[in-house]
Amino acid sequence: MLAFVGKEILNAMRYRVEMNIEGLYSERANKMRSSEIRELLELSQQPGVISFAGGLPNPDAFPSQQIGEIVSRILKEEGGKALQYGPTAGLREVREGIVNYVKKEGIKAKIDDVFLTVGSQQALDLVGRVFIDEGDVILVGLPTYLGAINAFLAYGAKLVGVPLDENGMRTDLLEEKIKELKDKGEKVKMIYTVPTFQNPAGVELSLERRKEMLEIAEKHGLLIIEDEPYRSLRFEGEPLPSIKSFDENGIVIYMATFSKILAPGFRLAYVVANEEITRKMVIAKQSVDLCTPTFTQLIAYYYIRNGYMERHVPRIIEMYKRKRDIMLDAMEKYFPDSCKWTKPRGGMFVWVELPKHISTIEMFQDAIKEKVAYVHGKAFHVDGSGENTMRLNFTNPSDELIEEGIRRLAKVIKARI
Ligand SMILES: Cc1ncc(COP(=O)(O)O)c(C=O)c1O
Repeated sequence: MLAFVGKEILNAMRYRVEMNIEGLYSERANKMRSSEIRELLELSQQPGVISFAGGLPNPDAFPSQQIGEIVSRILKEEGGKALQYGPTAGLREVREGIVNYVKKEGIKAKIDDVFLTVGSQQALDLVGRVFIDEGDVILVGLPTYLGAINAFLAYGAKLVGVPLDENGMRTDLLEEKIKELKDKGEKVKMIYTVPTFQNPAGVELSLERRKEMLEIAEKHGLLIIEDEPYRSLRFEGEPLPSIKSFDENGIVIYMATFSKILAPGFRLAYVVANEEITRKMVIAKQSVDLCTPTFTQLIAYYYIRNGYMERHVPRIIEMYKRKRDIMLDAMEKYFPDSCKWTKPRGGMFVWVELPKHISTIEMFQDAIKEKVAYVHGKAFHVDGSGENTMRLNFTNPSDELIEEGIRRLAKVIKARI
């Protein structure tokens, strides 16, 4: 009997403990949102669905064979180093390699300005850890990259949107916005931008606006987070200098990733900032993961050093340009006249605007029934607007499926119109 009562009490206690876990979450954890895209991706992975939803590179663009050769050589000759812990900022030779790599883009950096991260997503999180206090304001594009929205919101940032047009963020509205916020006593800290082939809108920030954005940031004592995953994926037009290349005062935190030009599975990216900021972010990184995997750093290092990257990127560009053209041609053929869309000169996305009364959130279920998927545009708008917009990825589906997917999507849109 006693044993029985004891068990009952124990079970009751266990129950209470389970009930209390909710109350134990930190305020930060309560602010975390699951990415809407990640959840949509699951639906879009149902059999037979043609997905324009994810931001995924094409697996045919992964240079598996060359990576295989490099891996065997590394394991044979440098296994002890490749499989060991490494410095938090990254291996010295890799950081030096990056200094030389970004020099080609006009960025003057010393080795102490550079560190490696586990994807640029980690770099965004580290920005949050190091710079964001509850209520700090960050200016972002309307629309902007969802992963940045979620990373910054988790640290309590207040995100204020600045509209984009075909030349990127409207810098003519940016300064007005900053003044307005400052007048209200808000602590404005930084501008977040994806200047080249922006995710999700696919647009490029013009040269004038790059310079203007830097001037505005300098004048108002703000940082610029320059996030450049798509810079190398240019199909046409002359490359524009990065904002970082004009940065004499060390206020730009530049980040780029190997995810779109080599392999996202490596989770490898780098940050170029001034030495002081780098030191602080590296300290923050110490408690996150001790170091970026040494193994993938070395693979990327030899991939570039052997000259493979120079030959590989043009091949990806050719493939993605072809896919973009197939998508744009199909849209021209099937989409109703009342839709507008961007014609990106690079990157991975086309941005679509439907007539105002159409909700792409409500339309999503119809699309899944027709076996086609996209990401609704509201997810990328920090002000809750953009419900009539959507993002289409053209890099992941096969050439044959792009046209069929657009045909299905056009049917869904026409039914709504
Ligand atoms: C603008 C932008 N920033 C950062 C990332 C994250 O990239 P990574 O794979 O390096 O974490 C992405 C990925 O899609 C992106 O589009």
